[in-house]
Amino acid sequence: MTPAGKRVVMVAAVADNGVIGADGDIPWRIPEDFQHFKRTTLGHTLVMGRATYDSIGLPLPGRVTIVLTRDPSWSADGVLVAPSLAEGLALADGLEGDVAIAGGALVYAEAMPVADEQVLTHVHLTPDGDTFYPELDPHAWVEQRRDTFPDRDVVWLVRT
Ligand SMILES: NC(=O)c1ccc[n+]([C@@H]2O[C@H](COP(=O)([O-])OP(=O)(O)OC[C@H]3O[C@@H](n4cnc5c(N)ncnc54)[C@H](OP(=O)(O)O)[C@@H]3O)[C@@H](O)[C@H]2O)c1
Repeated sequence: MTPAGKRVVMVAAVADNGVIGADGDIPWRIPEDFQHFKRTTLGHTLVMGRATYDSIGLPLPGRVTIVLTRDPSWSADGVLVAPSLAEGLALADGLEGDVAIAGGALVYAEAMPVADEQVLTHVHLTPDGDTFYPELDPHAWVEQRRDTFPDRDVVWLVRT
């Protein structure tokens, strides 16, 4: 189901307690990490769940956005829609760049087995939250690079 010749890269910001979301939003504001997300995903095709799209509220510039929803009547200006991850990845085939998986929780979990890389910002906070990054098999992934900042580490993981 992976698009031929494309890398599938999961991009997420994860708190020390695994939280990625609370009440439909991200429970921290780190502008430098938004810039990192932009640099990492510009020119690539974003695949995200409908709730994540709703929380952003508009297509991010410079990137094609594919929104996953099971609601056949759902649409939004400037985005493509797919009814499953497999169909979203098939749609991404032929579009620009690689595939950036942008959440939320179930989309990350479903994409993990087909992902080639994870770019994770480990945010050094323990906020209350209702949405968590999935467990990852430490034997399946190896750290390729780490950038350390006072409030966060950015880690690039590739498959072993
Ligand atoms: N920290 C981070 O890096 C990060 C990244 C992304 C999101 N978030 C946060 O995570 C939360 C949102 O995540 P979430 O897990 O609640 O929701 P989500 O994955 O963004 O969206 C869930 C919805 O997406 C659709 N969907 C998901 N998987 C699908 C599939 N395989 N096939 C078809 N449709 C599928 C369904 O939409 P329908 O109900 O329309 O059918 C489902 O209800 C927010 O708080 C957001 O701010 C954080």
